[in-house]
Amino acid sequence: MINAERLSKIYGSHGNQVVALDKIDLQVAPGDRIALLGRSGSGKTTLINLLAGLDRPSSGLLEIAGQGLQSMSAEDLAFYRRDKIGVIFQSFQLIAQKTALQNVELPLILTGMAKSKRRKLARESLEKVGLSQRIKHRPYQLSGGEQQRVAIARAIVNGPSVLLADEPTGNLDSKTAATIEGLIVEICNESNATLVLITHDESLANRCASRICYLRDGQLFDKPGEAS
Ligand SMILES: Nc1ncnc2c1ncn2[C@@H]1O[C@H](COP(=O)(O)OP(=O)(O)OP(=O)(O)O)[C@@H](O)[C@H]1O
Ligand SMILES: [Mg+2]
Repeated sequence: MINAERLSKIYGSHGNQVVALDKIDLQVAPGDRIALLGRSGSGKTTLINLLAGLDRPSSGLLEIAGQGLQSMSAEDLAFYRRDKIGVIFQSFQLIAQKTALQNVELPLILTGMAKSKRRKLARESLEKVGLSQRIKHRPYQLSGGEQQRVAIARAIVNGPSVLLADEPTGNLDSKTAATIEGLIVEICNESNATLVLITHDESLANRCASRICYLRDGQLFDKPGEAS
């Protein structure tokens, strides 16, 4: 499902460069759940942004769901994100003025789907995350855990084959975090989506993932090592 070979991302220009990802190799099979652990600044979000097609590699190969992302046009990358990818962020990233239902419906508007069908799918997605009773609430009327549920519903409304989660429980208390973790794993199991979960928390990684990888200074390892 995911195949990265010698994938690098270098930010900045000459004399002021940051090597955020340094020739990493990563293979993830369809339906696999991997966790990426690493210190702040180790390149975790950079990697998620590349996998999501939100940013482009500086060099190397990146194939996801049979498509080579490194050579795609901006338009094709937008289609790729729309059709294949769901992303969950630490800070939820909901639109404050919109209701839960409208937030979840948003990715479907890009597909040109009829409104009645969009609404139906958005309702079903909110039902999956247990929020049927909150569809007209705006983000400020929801608890942190509920806001993250809306964000999960939005991430899965397009039926993504890859779910990317960047510290999805980082802003939640431990009890709510456990519920959200459980929900993400359940959704991946049900839909057979491939999961890439970023976290600082090794025990969360152990609970959610079938495999753990470690990022250190932009390099990827399959063992923790002394610096992690
Ligand atoms: N847009 C950018 N321009 C320049 N440097 C960047 C940019 N984004 C990230 N970096 C640098 O790249 C490195 C990796 O950043 P990244 O955000 O991937 O880290 P992270 O592992 O997600 O950290 P955290 O756990 O704090 O979220 C850092 O040194 C950061 O300063
Ligand atoms: Mg990050």
